[in-house]
Amino acid sequence: MSGPEPLPRTATRPVLTVPALRRHKVRDGAEPLVMLTAYDAPTARLAAAAGIDLLLVGDSVGTAVLGYDSTVPVTLDDIIHHARAVRRGAPRAQVVADLPFLTYQASDEQAVTNAGRLIQEGGADAVKLEGGRTQADRIRAIVSAGIPVVGHIGLTPQSAGALGGMRVQGRDLDGALALIEDARAVEAAGAHLLVVEVVPADLGALLTEVVSIPTIGIGAGAACDGQVLVWTDLAGLTAKAPEEAIRPRFVEPMLDLNGMLTEAFAGFAAAVRSGAYPQAQHTYPMKAEVLAELRASLGESAAKPGGRGNA
Ligand code: KIV
Repeated sequence: MSGPEPLPRTATRPVLTVPALRRHKVRDGAEPLVMLTAYDAPTARLAAAAGIDLLLVGDSVGTAVLGYDSTVPVTLDDIIHHARAVRRGAPRAQVVADLPFLTYQASDEQAVTNAGRLIQEGGADAVKLEGGRTQADRIRAIVSAGIPVVGHIGLTPQSAGALGGMRVQGRDLDGALALIEDARAVEAAGAHLLVVEVVPADLGALLTEVVSIPTIGIGAGAACDGQVLVWTDLAGLTAKAPEEAIRPRFVEPMLDLNGMLTEAFAGFAAAVRSGAYPQAQHTYPMKAEVLAELRASLGESAAKPGGRGNA
């Protein structure tokens, strides 16, 4: 049989269904949703086990782990590759996969085809795309094809150039009104969740009020129906040297993974160089008689340490 190997599925997954998510508003008594990015199997496994509600295979993979300066170079195949790993690590999680730059903007057909690949090949439950009113038709087309869509408005990193950089959105009246129209358009087009990135906290609260789908904020204040972070930001792991890395104000690292890993890597190097590693307990034994026979069969010179047979 050709094609990618099947991904793990279980009869009971996912724990949170799309219809249940759509109704999950804090104002109706729900707990805030917790979303975290994941790009590989171990982090997906750990995040799911820790009770994270939604795993996002974000195009932030580009800056967080692939070493790019922006999310623009990330391809659909990159996201599929990472989504498959996330699905293997967390078979029952609600996995959302990002449609990267220029994989949906060109036409409804392109959007539906590529969203379908994230579901079919990537094993995702839903896709996320950036944009408000301008992308409403794309959202409608993907939802009509039976694929759940998460919207994303505010700071949309794929179009950071057009927005004038990675800056707070909706600070003035026109900008804020435009984002409210965007939120309404995304909901009307059929999205079941709305990510709101880097807007004033009061606007995050207003956006949460005006839509009946849950908002998931990132730098959008505490009133959103949930929060999302990039896991490497949360863990203090930066692709660039920490002094060159940009840390937005909404990131509060809960760990110094840069420091912990540097210490572990340096410890390994030191242990190898000093001979402290490996010890006997790290090695595999061979029967003495096998070793004796091996030495005999190699001849005297080869058996000596560093010997090179008859050469
Ligand atoms: O790609 C990503 O990780 C995202 C989040 C920042 C929401 O879109």
